[in-house]
Amino acid sequence: MCGIAGYIGGGDSTAIVEDGLSNLEYRGYDSAGVAFVGERLTVEKQTGTIDGIDIPTNNDISQGIGHTRWSTHGEPTDANAHPHTDCTSSVAVVHNGIISNYDDLKAELGGHVFESETDTEVVPHLIEEELTAGYDFVPAVRRATDQLKGSYAIAVTHADKAKLVVARQDSPLVVGHGEEGMYIGSDVTAFAEFTQRVSYLEDGDLAVIADDDVTVYNDGQQVSRPIRQVDWDTSAAEKAGHDHYMHKEIHEQPHALRQALSGRINDLEGTVDLDIDIEGTFGDCEFVEIIACGTSYHAGLCAKRFLESHTDLAVSVNIASEYEPAHPHRATDTVALAITQSGETADTLAALRDAKAVGMRTVAVTNTVGSTVTREVDESLFIRAGPEIGVAATKTFVSQVATLTLLAVAVGQHRGTLSAGEATDLLESVQALPSAVQSILDTEAEIRETAEDHADGEAFFFIGRQLGHPVALESALKLKEISYDHAEGFPSGELKHGPLALVTPNTPVIAFLTDATDPRETLHNAKEVESRGAPVIGLSTLADADTYCAETIDIPEIGVLEPMVANVAMQLFAYHVAKLKDRNIDKPRNLAKSVTVQ
Ligand code: AGP
Ligand code: GLU
Repeated sequence: MCGIAGYIGGGDSTAIVEDGLSNLEYRGYDSAGVAFVGERLTVEKQTGTIDGIDIPTNNDISQGIGHTRWSTHGEPTDANAHPHTDCTSSVAVVHNGIISNYDDLKAELGGHVFESETDTEVVPHLIEEELTAGYDFVPAVRRATDQLKGSYAIAVTHADKAKLVVARQDSPLVVGHGEEGMYIGSDVTAFAEFTQRVSYLEDGDLAVIADDDVTVYNDGQQVSRPIRQVDWDTSAAEKAGHDHYMHKEIHEQPHALRQALSGRINDLEGTVDLDIDIEGTFGDCEFVEIIACGTSYHAGLCAKRFLESHTDLAVSVNIASEYEPAHPHRATDTVALAITQSGETADTLAALRDAKAVGMRTVAVTNTVGSTVTREVDESLFIRAGPEIGVAATKTFVSQVATLTLLAVAVGQHRGTLSAGEATDLLESVQALPSAVQSILDTEAEIRETAEDHADGEAFFFIGRQLGHPVALESALKLKEISYDHAEGFPSGELKHGPLALVTPNTPVIAFLTDATDPRETLHNAKEVESRGAPVIGLSTLADADTYCAETIDIPEIGVLEPMVANVAMQLFAYHVAKLKDRNIDKPRNLAKSVTVQ
C-alpha cells in the first residue's frame, strides 16, 4: 500500500506532483521519490517524507510521477525508495502492491544491474528488455506487465516520450481530467484540489496518458472508462472520503487480505511459501511461545488453535507484559513468536529479549518492514496490511490471522502432521476470506441499524466457543476501546459460572454461531441468557438461528475462518455505536497507537 501521484500537461508539474504526494502520505510514509521529464529524466528519492525531497525547479518539465512508499519488500532505505529505473536511466517506474513472481523474473533478467531489494525493480528492467527488442514504449510496457503476477498499480515515464503509461491489477488507480493536463493518483485525494473529473481504471487496464487525453486498453482492446464528476471534500482528503481512518481501514480489509495472501499459496501443489526459513526455525523445535499484547494477543490465541490442531507443537500464548520463558532449560527446542503489528510495542520487545536471552529462536509476525522487532529477530513474517492509522486495530487483526493460518499450514506440511485434506480446507477458507469480508461490508446499513437499536445497552457480552472465543474477546475489546461501553468476551460455557449474574434485559449478548465455534452448544447458552430477558444477536451460518436469537446477522459460509468474517460485522457494530455516541473514534481517550512504554 502506497501513494502514487502523477501529472502531464501545461501546469506546474513539479508542484502538482509534490502536492499530490503530500495528500497521499497517509497511504505510506517510510520513503518518497519523484521522477520528472524535461530535457532529461531526473529522479530524486530518499527515506522519510516528501518534505525531504529536493524537487527540481526547471521550467521545461511537463510530466512527472511520484511515490510515497510503504515497504513490503526491502527495508525503507534510499535505494529501495521509488521510482526505480532501468540500466539506461530512461525508464522510471513507481509501483503500489506486490509483484509476487519477482524472484523468477529477476532470475531471467541476467545481465541487468539491480540497485534495490524491491520486487518493483524488475518492472523497469522488463520494459528495457522489450525496448531493446525493438518495441515502442507503450507495447513495451504492455509486454512487461503481461509477465507480472500479484497486485500492482504502476506508473511509468520515459525520458523521450510525451506520455505516461499506467496499469492496474488489484491496486487502485484513478485518472483526473483537468483543464491544462491529466492527473493520476492512487485515489482522488492526489489531485482533488485541481480537478474533480475522474475516471476509475479497472483490473487489467493499461492507460496511455497524454496531456489532453487518455486511451485505455484492456486485454488488447480499447475500452472506455466513463468520466465522473466527484464531489470531493478536500478536508476529508486523507481519509479517502471516509469519516474516520478506522472506517476506511475496516473497508480496506478485502484488499489487505489479498495482499497478505499474494504469491504465498501454490494452488496446484496445495502448498505455502512464506519467505522464511521454516526448516531452520520450526524443523526440530517442540514448543512455541507466542508473545503479544491486545489485538495481537487475540490473533495469537487464534494461531494457537491452528498450530496445535495441525502440528505436533505445544503452543502457549503469553500476554507480553506477563511473560516468563516457560521452558528455559529447553530454550533450544523453543521458538518465541512475537506478534506485533507496529513492531514497536515495548512490552512485546521486552518479552522477546527475555526469550532471546535464554537462547530461543525468534520470529516476528509484523506489519512494519524495518521496525525494531524486525531488527531483533531471526525471521520476520510480514502481514502486508498497509499502514493502519486508527488506534483500534482492524485490518491488521484479520491480516495477522490469515498470515498465521498460512504459517500453520507451512509448518504442518513441513513436519508431516497436516493431511492434504486439512491443508485444502484451510487454504480454501483463507482464500475465500476477502470476498466473504466484502459481503459483510456490503451489509453495513443493516449492521448500523442493529447498532442504533442497541447503542443504549448497559453492557455488552460476546460469547463464543473454540475459535469463537478469541474473536469474542477481540470484538469486546473493539467496542470498549472506541465506544467506552463496558464490553466483555467469554467462552460461552463460562457464562453460567459467574458472568450470568450481570445479564439483564439491557445487556445485549452477541453469540458467535459459525463453523469452528461449536455453534449448537452456544445456542443452549444463548437460550439461557434469552430466558433472563437479554436480547441475543446471533452471528450465524445456521439456518435456524433465528428460532434461538432475537436477531441474526448472516455470515457467509467459508469454513474454519468464518469467525473472522463475523468479527468484521462486530467491527462495524462497534464503529457505529461509537459514532452515535460521538466518540473520538480514531484516537480514543487514554490510548495510543504504538505503546512504546512498558
Ligand atoms: C488494538 O485495537 C489496540 N489498539 C491494542 O490492543 C494493540 O493491539 C496492542 O497495543 C498491540 O499493538 P501491536 O500489535 O502494535 O504490538
Ligand atoms: N512492493 C513495493 C515495495 O516494497 C511497493 C510497496 C508499496 O506499495 O509502497 O517497494
